[in-house]
Amino acid sequence: MIVGEKVRLRPIERDDLPRYVEWFADPEVRRYLALYLPFSLAQEERWFENLLERLERREDVVLAIETAEGVHIGNVGLHRIDWRNRNAELGIAIGERSYWNQGYGTDAIRTLLGLAFREMNLHRVFLRVDADNARGIRCYEKAGFRREGVLREAVFKEGAYHDQYIMSILQSEFEANE
Ligand SMILES: CC(C)(COP(=O)(O)OP(=O)(O)OC[C@H]1O[C@@H](n2cnc3c(N)ncnc32)[C@H](O)[C@@H]1OP(=O)(O)O)[C@@H](O)C(=O)NCCC(=O)NCCS
Repeated sequence: MIVGEKVRLRPIERDDLPRYVEWFADPEVRRYLALYLPFSLAQEERWFENLLERLERREDVVLAIETAEGVHIGNVGLHRIDWRNRNAELGIAIGERSYWNQGYGTDAIRTLLGLAFREMNLHRVFLRVDADNARGIRCYEKAGFRREGVLREAVFKEGAYHDQYIMSILQSEFEANE
């Protein structure tokens, strides 16, 4: 268990999977996640088997986000970890909508960054976010990320192309803010 100010990060268990089915059935949750279809339990089970292999190969770190009271509200992870250049891509989804806008996302990210920079000795963590995801962008800025580029019209959804931003934070910037 990795303890933050408002959240705890813990490994994902098979028992969590029915909650993912429920969360990703909601179009509002899928909207900024490049998911245009809901998932079945069988698909979530396959995703989980694949995740176990990636965790074993040290390619990814994916953890469940719980509130201090033990309510599972989402996932946060580092993907395609590049151990030579010491960077990785961050992804997050809070599936329990009633927990949005209360600082859980920012704290989950800060907690994961502590692990990335202080335990895994990564140098740079980056992410991609749709330009119309104002909540996500604000959350990442609060967590210390800065915008470093635009992927023009990189995403097609809801009948139109949208820009995506690349945002990143360096180990030194994280430490300067602690
Ligand atoms: C994006 C996400 C991780 C953010 O987590 P969160 O717990 O809701 O975020 P926080 O509460 O820490 O921060 C959100 C900030 O955005 C602000 N915000 C919300 N809607 C906003 C809007 N339309 N415009 C500007 N700011 C907005 C909030 O007020 C808050 O800022 P504040 O603390 O200064 O008031 C979460 O909402 C989520 O998982 N959403 C669905 C999936 C998703 O978008 N994932 C990210 C894909 S890149």
